Amino acid sequence: MASKSYFLLLITIISCQQLLLIQAESETKVEVQNEAVKIDENKPLNDFQDRCASTKCRDGETCVLNKDGDAECGCIPQCEDPKDERLMVCTKANHTYTSDCEFFQMQCWCRKKDERCTRPEAVTDVIDYFGRCQNIGVCTEFELDVFPKRMNIWLGEILDALFVRKDLDTKYAVLVDEARKMKLSNTEKWWRNAVLWEFCELDQTHDNAVNNEELARFVRSLKVLEHCIQPFLDHCDTDNDNKISSEEWGTCLGLDKDDMAFLKTFCSH
Ligand SMILES: *[C@@H]1O[C@H](CO)[C@@H](O)[C@H](O)[C@H]1NC(C)=O
Repeated sequence: MASKSYFLLLITIISCQQLLLIQAESETKVEVQNEAVKIDENKPLNDFQDRCASTKCRDGETCVLNKDGDAECGCIPQCEDPKDERLMVCTKANHTYTSDCEFFQMQCWCRKKDERCTRPEAVTDVIDYFGRCQNIGVCTEFELDVFPKRMNIWLGEILDALFVRKDLDTKYAVLVDEARKMKLSNTEKWWRNAVLWEFCELDQTHDNAVNNEELARFVRSLKVLEHCIQPFLDHCDTDNDNKISSEEWGTCLGLDKDDMAFLKTFCSH
């Protein structure tokens, strides 16, 4: 089934990204420690951590100690080549970068007027989606019409797959259990719990609504595979306030009023 390959891809994308994050983290740590040693050999190693503890750097930057030993943000020295086309990023300006790290690094260089800046427009550019820039095609009305149905089934399969892989927060186990029973008994909306689960996952701030920022990552990962995802989410936001409330999410994906009430209580903790 087509939807099966979609979720496998998404899962690969997500797990690769987590792996890269972990790798990037350990790499920068090693690197900066060396630098700290170079700056002043008498200073203990944890001096770096102390000084950088309160320095928050933006994407593409990492905390370094300058000549005076003060913490400041410098551009990430090196990005790993993910060697996976799916981890490339395409920006709104339709530029392909090897990874999101490379894009943020370029932004940093250009912001700091570094000579390695080759795309000054990067400063105002943003990531559009994961994958090489390509012709994504327009979402037709028909595709948009059938999209909720496809998404429901797809979410249903992902939820179960994550549970099988033990990649699911244990608080969701009860949802999986119930979903399996619903599927076995041929309940029409067997994917109901998966729709609830995805909303809880997206609503990181627990304000019972999913804002643009919370949706961005979801959309970026899916856009190449599902060119209707953005039009679909825009269409869910019926009051055009740039966020999707639990009511809007439920209505958009065909849930009932009762399901939405359950969703409110379930997601709030
Ligand atoms: C972006 O670039 C790709 C590949 O170069 C091209 O196929 C596509 O049409 C471009 N998209 C836009 C909106 O210009």
